[in-house]
Amino acid sequence: MLKMTHLAKVYRTEVVETYALRDLSLNVREGEFVAVTGPSGSGKTTFLNVAGLLETPTGGQYHLDGEDVSKLGDDARSRIRNEKIGFIFQAFNLIPDLNVFDNIDVPLRYRRMNGAERKKRIGEALERVGLSARARHYPAELSGGQQQRVAIARALAGTPRLLLADEPTGNLDTQMARGVMELLEGIHRDGATIVMVTHDPELAVRAQRNVHIIDGQVVDLTEEPRFHGVHAEARQASA
Ligand SMILES: Nc1ncnc2c1ncn2[C@@H]1O[C@H](COP(=O)(O)OP(=O)(O)OP(=O)(O)O)[C@@H](O)[C@H]1O
Ligand SMILES: [Mg+2]
Repeated sequence: MLKMTHLAKVYRTEVVETYALRDLSLNVREGEFVAVTGPSGSGKTTFLNVAGLLETPTGGQYHLDGEDVSKLGDDARSRIRNEKIGFIFQAFNLIPDLNVFDNIDVPLRYRRMNGAERKKRIGEALERVGLSARARHYPAELSGGQQQRVAIARALAGTPRLLLADEPTGNLDTQMARGVMELLEGIHRDGATIVMVTHDPELAVRAQRNVHIIDGQVVDLTEEPRFHGVHAEARQASA
């Protein structure tokens, strides 16, 4: 569903050029659950932002569901994003002045859904994350784990086929992290494709596939191994 070929993303300021992504190639098939790991600054968030059409690459190709999306304008990108993609961030990104219900409602309003449909979806999403009783609470009145579940409900309410999560458990203790991971696994079983950046090896191994990003490039740990280093030796040995 997601096919990136030789992607580059360069951030330019007056003094420096930073290659956040360089020659990054990756395929993610429909229905996969991929965990992305890698050192700080290696390009994981940049990769997710490009995958989620929040940022455009400066080089290479990106096809989403067979459509070349690397050079689309802002409007076309936000349309596709609204239709297909859900985001979960480490910092939850809830709006403090809105209660739980209204936070989940924001992206649905963008999609110009009618009130009844929005209400139904918000109710279902809240039930799914176990927070039906908290709809009128404000984010500050919730624990970190509950806030992240609201953020997951917000992503779910749009029924995205592709769920992108950037350190979704980074601000949670172990027990809450497990709860969030179980939710994601359920969403995956229901058919969503999930790409999750995580620093937590315990969570990474629970995904179907582990991808490592180093210096803006992908090292796939479970598939399509790059034939150098250990892999090259293994290959020569078996040849
Ligand atoms: N808007 C920006 N302008 C300039 N440089 C940027 C920008 N965003 C990211 N970078 C640079 O791109 C590189 C990759 O950053 P990115 O946020 O993708 O890393 P990361 O792998 O997500 O790191 P972390 O694990 O710490 O979240 C870093 O060197 C960073 O400084
Ligand atoms: Mg990051």
